[in-house]
Amino acid sequence: MTSPYSFESVDLAQFGHEDRYKFLMASVIPRPIALVTTLGADGFVNAAPFSSFVVLSVDPPLLGISVARRDDGSIKDTYRLVEASGEFVIHTVDTAMAKQVQQCSAALGPTQSEVEHAGLYLVPSIKVKPPRIAQAPIHFECKLHRIEYFGDRRSALIVGEVVQTHSREGLVHGHRVDPLEADILGRLGGGVYCSSTVIIKP
Ligand SMILES: Cc1cc2nc3c(=O)[nH]c(=O)nc-3n(C[C@H](O)[C@H](O)[C@H](O)COP(=O)(O)O)c2cc1C
Repeated sequence: MTSPYSFESVDLAQFGHEDRYKFLMASVIPRPIALVTTLGADGFVNAAPFSSFVVLSVDPPLLGISVARRDDGSIKDTYRLVEASGEFVIHTVDTAMAKQVQQCSAALGPTQSEVEHAGLYLVPSIKVKPPRIAQAPIHFECKLHRIEYFGDRRSALIVGEVVQTHSREGLVHGHRVDPLEADILGRLGGGVYCSSTVIIKP
């Protein structure tokens, strides 16, 4: 049977860094967002969103986030603090938190808190030192499992072992989170987001 589809085919080596970034990030969609809290030695709480976020293993339970360097080559606070402390909390977020997620991505500098900037409530974790964000529906307390480097060390895959979870009361039914109730926020390309509430049952 002859396919009715036609394609535009591109070798990504033809693109510069920025266009390659745009193409990849707008093509691998939707991506759930990991809002990650880390703690500085001075007690400062850092929060930042990462949509390069994946479940890597179930036994042990491993989650991965890919943290790139900034355009100027500098290292992001999340990477620095995870490497130094070995502990972090990953939260999935709902659509009500879309603006706060955006606010947490601002590069505020090491002495300004994204948490205050975005009006987030903090609650203590049980097994790690960084606190959790109360508004988020699902929380994974993580201990650093390992860091893998890619692309001339510009990107680091931070792998965390989940040592404790928390979910908003009533959200989990028989070990499953109801995507309609949870209304999880996903990222599409170019600052556009989607919700887990559009359900398809093939
Ligand atoms: C929705 C969203 C998703 C993002 N995903 C990533 C990502 O997967 N990897 C990354 O390096 N930066 C990502 N960013 C950018 C970081 O959040 C941003 O660089 C932030 O300032 C890092 O903060 P930090 O220095 O406190 O770690 C994302 C931003 C937004 C708004």
